[in-house]
Amino acid sequence: MVRRALTGIKPTGEPHVGNWLGAIRPALELADSYETFYFIADYHALNIIYDAGSLRQNSLSIAATYLAFGLDPNRSVFYRQSDIPEVFELAWILACFTPKGLMNRAHSYKDAVAKNLAAEKDPDFNINMGLYSYPVLMAADILLFSANVVPVGADQKQHVEIARDIAERINHNYGEALFTLPEPKIDDQVKTIVGLDGRKMSKSYDNTIPLFLDEKPLLKRINQVVTNSQAPDEPKDPDQSSVFQLHKLLLTQAEETALRARYQAGGMGWGQAKKDYFDALNARLEGPRKEYRRLLADPAALNAILAQGRDKARAQASPFLDKVRGAIGIR
Ligand code: TRP
Repeated sequence: MVRRALTGIKPTGEPHVGNWLGAIRPALELADSYETFYFIADYHALNIIYDAGSLRQNSLSIAATYLAFGLDPNRSVFYRQSDIPEVFELAWILACFTPKGLMNRAHSYKDAVAKNLAAEKDPDFNINMGLYSYPVLMAADILLFSANVVPVGADQKQHVEIARDIAERINHNYGEALFTLPEPKIDDQVKTIVGLDGRKMSKSYDNTIPLFLDEKPLLKRINQVVTNSQAPDEPKDPDQSSVFQLHKLLLTQAEETALRARYQAGGMGWGQAKKDYFDALNARLEGPRKEYRRLLADPAALNAILAQGRDKARAQASPFLDKVRGAIGIR
């Protein structure tokens, strides 16, 4: 039987090269070997985005991003979390089987508490129940669709384990395999994608390369990649170069070997190395950039695609939730 992969995408802002190579590309590749479910986790973003316009816009733009990079809504189920009421009912059911201590141990909650304590604030300062019960909602996303594998970044691994833990408790209590136990799938080859300053590419470091810049600002951004002060004729160590680290993510093994040799031979200045990276990146972004803009200019069409995904998703979610209700004695 074909196994099912499901992943949620939090609509938190302008997507960048790190998101593409670290999350979007590996997630979309799964459609070749799994039955795939992708959704916009808009209710997970409500936790941090309290501006209606931004939440609405970010959701559309992340949907357009995935479509622009090749998500095929006829081959995958692609929907908005908020369009599936079954998720929220299941979240309550799961909450009633979730030990509070399990949530106390969740990394993101623990980090927030630790930050408060370090700042000598009340441990719960600024922590809402959305953050605290975030893993329960995520478990509902996953368990509602009986996902076998959940592709996520390393920071989300614990959340998938929590979903599994909750599922096991419920299965055990009712003596039947109601829920499929999900496994996290972490792509470690692309774990860390360096940003302009050599640290991990991240919005919080302001070192990203946004995906949908026009060519000129894109080149300008790439020219900001930090390099050492070696002269053009000097041989360069590709493993110490952020430009190379970024460029190689776009190359086949043979191309990477050839580029490596060019760095090591000397005679190529940093300006040239960056220009070459720009050319390679721009060639791959040109098509998606056009498609992204086309989709965003037509929100009605975008919403129609998501509505079609909603219908496909609910056709599975609704009978499944009925079965869960029956099993727990709610009718
Ligand atoms: N929490 C995930 C993140 O921040 C997004 C997410 C929500 C998710 N629900 C999910 C991922 C279910 C996988 C499965 O990236």
